[in-house]
Amino acid sequence: MCGIVCYVGKKKAQPILIEGLKRLEYRGYDSAGLAVQNGDHVDYFRAVGRIVELEKKIHDHDITGSSGIAHTRWATHGEPTEENAHPHTDQEKNVFVIHNGIIENYQILKSKLQKNGVRFSSDTDTEVLAHLISKYFDGDLCEAVRKTMSKVEGTFGIAVIHRNKPGQIVVARRGSPLIIGVGKDGNFAASDISAMVRYTNKVVHLNDNELATITEDGFTISTAQAIAVQRDAETVEWAPEDAELNGFPHFMLKEIFEQPETLRNAMRGRLEQGEGVPRLGGIMPVWDTLKECRHIVIVACGTSYFAGCVGRYIFEKLTEIDIEVELASEFRYRKLNFPHNTYIIAMSQSGETADTLAAIREARRKGAKLLGIVNVVGSSISRETDAGVYNHAGPEIGVASTKIFISQLTILTLLALLLGRHQNLSLTEGVEAIRALEVLPEQVQTILSEANHIQAIAEKYYHYNNWLFLGRKYCYPIAMEGALKLKEISYIHAEGYAAGEMKHGPIALINPDMPTVAIAPKDSMYDKMINNIQEIKSRKGLVIAIGTEGDEQLKEMVDDFIGIPPTLDILNPILAVVPCQLIAYYCARFLNRDIDKPRNLAKSVTVE
Ligand code: F6R
Repeated sequence: MCGIVCYVGKKKAQPILIEGLKRLEYRGYDSAGLAVQNGDHVDYFRAVGRIVELEKKIHDHDITGSSGIAHTRWATHGEPTEENAHPHTDQEKNVFVIHNGIIENYQILKSKLQKNGVRFSSDTDTEVLAHLISKYFDGDLCEAVRKTMSKVEGTFGIAVIHRNKPGQIVVARRGSPLIIGVGKDGNFAASDISAMVRYTNKVVHLNDNELATITEDGFTISTAQAIAVQRDAETVEWAPEDAELNGFPHFMLKEIFEQPETLRNAMRGRLEQGEGVPRLGGIMPVWDTLKECRHIVIVACGTSYFAGCVGRYIFEKLTEIDIEVELASEFRYRKLNFPHNTYIIAMSQSGETADTLAAIREARRKGAKLLGIVNVVGSSISRETDAGVYNHAGPEIGVASTKIFISQLTILTLLALLLGRHQNLSLTEGVEAIRALEVLPEQVQTILSEANHIQAIAEKYYHYNNWLFLGRKYCYPIAMEGALKLKEISYIHAEGYAAGEMKHGPIALINPDMPTVAIAPKDSMYDKMINNIQEIKSRKGLVIAIGTEGDEQLKEMVDDFIGIPPTLDILNPILAVVPCQLIAYYCARFLNRDIDKPRNLAKSVTVE
């Protein structure tokens, strides 16, 4: 949600912090701030808006300190104002705190502090942390943070400096991500690897209820109970250029165009044509129980949830497993009653989505076994599941998820194939699926080479205010995902529907002012989709069809046609979603929207 970056070392901290904030801006972006320490002097600035506003504010100041903390905010408590921006400080301006998460008992803590004469200067929950740390500080900053942790309920990743403790940053986490980066000329902490990937790829993940004191020379970790923890740094594979635009105008477009490579990365070393059985090393630790499993529940949010919805059809086709898909935010409140040997698959790009984490914790309590399909290595979900598969897709920075969606579909297909081949799926079917998977990257490339055509279609339709997306079976979730992409980055109202539901209501909306994107590849649902398209056309609705290339019948019927290469029914969603992503992208561009940072959204939703 919010982004945290900290540095202590030999270099000037301010440029490192600003650069880190820019890389984190996608996590939240309504205000930003930093505090940089030089001896007992602290330079402290906050600004409403994007990081550039903070840059303008500090422009005429010579901030020389080599230790500091910085934050980009996505408001939860209190309006996005300068007073509510982080860092927050105590009355004497000794303690400076940045925070990602929510302090649930802040009202009680605030009232107690106020009764003791403490004056608050913001509406945030975070400010109580600054006053409590100040109250408990007796020369040992780590102890003061530990005592504060024992008083607060909720989630936090925090970083703290104290005027009397130059060269020292204390960080702590409960529920919100925090990573330490081990650099050559100093050390880092951040809520996300992308903030420090330019300086180091050696990271140490902090676990829940742990604290760390970071200095120029190293770091020490301890638990909330003051037990020392030894943990070595891990090396992450992400390269600095993964977090650059590399000539693209937006990360979203860059990530859409990266998709052939994303598919290759998801399949690399995992395809085995001979036996038609993929290899997924990450699930081998639980293979003995997984292969016997007959009930799976996929839990996820947003785009990851829609990928799960496609996964349901894929599992039904390839395996004998009874499969359900649940919105994590609903699942956590259900009365859960699993059959024996149920596996829960938590699917998440960030691996930090609060609802998905809460869902797996609830499932664990009820005795389920847990798998993760996660992109961010070492993230909370990857660590709280028994085993799993990484996407290996590199950072996804555009707030609207694109490349991870097709990566998730690929991994679900591999997993279903693997399980199916140990059940009733034949060698021929297994090999056929693997052959079809192998050519997907080139097929996506073919669709991308038609980007200009899709841009022209977007130009024709972007001024319509209401859109419908329709699909059936495998492509029904693509209709929902297409509608989500369009609404979240262009702010055009769009609905994703199962085409069979048309006559149960949405058909009333059809008129010449309502474009429908009909996803109608030549699959087992094709004839039914054609009927639906005819129903729309006979009511003078506008139809943009996404169909199998060369489908002249469909092309003739509709206003505009986007072709995708032929593939297996189960793999059509991977191809069909790409034109939907591009339609959303170009519409948003014609409308001049802030594509990588759509209003009110944040990349990683670490609060409920
Ligand atoms: C939409 C989007 C969100 C995320 C959702 C889950 O484009 O990005 O709907 O898919 O917030 O996020 P992860 O996958 O990180 O759990």
